[in-house]
Amino acid sequence: MRDDLIGLFPPGTRLDGDGTLLIGGCPVTELAERYGTPALLVDEGALRARARTYADGLAARWPNSRVVFASKAFPCTAVYRLMAEEGLGADVAGGGELALALAAGTDPAALVVHGNARTTGELRAAVEAGAGLIVVDGFDDIDRLERILADDRCVPAGGEQGVLVRVTPDIRPATHAAVSTGQADSKFGLLPAPAKEAIARLRGSDRLRLDGVHVHIGSQILDTEPFRRAVEAVAALGDFAVYDLGGGLGARYSYDDHPPSVAAYLDALIGAARGVLPAAARILIEPGRSMVAEAGVSLYRAVTVKRGAGATFVAIDGGMGDNLEVSLYRQRFEATVATRVGGGETCRLVGRHCESGDELVTGVPLRDPRPGDLIAVPATGAYTYALSNNYNGALRPPVVFCRDGRHRAVVRRETYADLLRRDL
Ligand SMILES: Cc1ncc(COP(=O)(O)O)c(C=O)c1O
Repeated sequence: MRDDLIGLFPPGTRLDGDGTLLIGGCPVTELAERYGTPALLVDEGALRARARTYADGLAARWPNSRVVFASKAFPCTAVYRLMAEEGLGADVAGGGELALALAAGTDPAALVVHGNARTTGELRAAVEAGAGLIVVDGFDDIDRLERILADDRCVPAGGEQGVLVRVTPDIRPATHAAVSTGQADSKFGLLPAPAKEAIARLRGSDRLRLDGVHVHIGSQILDTEPFRRAVEAVAALGDFAVYDLGGGLGARYSYDDHPPSVAAYLDALIGAARGVLPAAARILIEPGRSMVAEAGVSLYRAVTVKRGAGATFVAIDGGMGDNLEVSLYRQRFEATVATRVGGGETCRLVGRHCESGDELVTGVPLRDPRPGDLIAVPATGAYTYALSNNYNGALRPPVVFCRDGRHRAVVRRETYADLLRRDL
């Protein structure tokens, strides 16, 4: 077994006396029996600890600040509630995530509302909900918001709607193209020259209150240097009350991933801010992936083990229906038989879906894999629940919070009736 395999699981993960994996102190065998497979397990203690590491780390370095959880990474009400309990705000992308955050009881004033293509209805819903900040992605957003606010029936909390302008700084971090957003040809935000125009226009608005600027250069970024450059880019736009520096810190999925720690990331980010941002400014950050990835573990059951054609295929009862990260971004994960943790035969861990590309992990060492085995895949807390789908009539898995040996489902498994629910 690679020594660091357990290190890919949530901190505190261990094995019981007979070698079975315990997540949040709960044996995965017990969890599989109670909730079935596939299931998305969340170590609640690890998730709370991560939220506190972020919140305390930012507050210690820049007291006038707030961590705003990028909820697209795990948009379920239990996670919104957990983040709110830990004192974090939430970033919501569009009307759906706004509705989820509000249903979870997130303080509207702590919401930052994003999106590159929000309808008038979505923007109106944000204003009516009392969202603290709406991020303007272009001039059409300004037109829409001004029209919305010209309607006397739509009065924002405090009489004015706070907005930020999203800036595209022409920074292309080293990451998958699909999750790079800071480059000049990005569909998100405004390049510095038009951003300055938008800023000037908003300064003249009597209903929109320009609070500051926003930048988010991409996701799964494993180096702090691009973040530093992004801070410099927003500083060059002038002095504001608020700077939202986005998210993007990478998570550790596999042995070769070495993302900076939260402390190293904050040192770099706030170190840069100290040099160029006004001391009185408020800083927001929006971590998503790096907040939730490590706390999640996907639990599957091996359905078949097929040897031949130079490979051993271990086919599980899930796949691209519950984890699209591989298909979309070729994300490398690791895996283990959950009752015989560690390496052995090199296998192809494949899903149950009707595409050859539905291969969760290629070349993963599994110890004597057999049909019926539980298979655990670590670091699946980010963007798996969010991107899960019903391909091939797959039922989206339950989400199970585990903590101190106790467990509770916070999202149930779908049923076949759910698959029919929208049909008229
Ligand atoms: C505006 C914005 N903020 C924050 C995030 C979170 O990024 P990450 O999950 O990489 O931290 C995203 C992700 O796409 C985003 O679009």
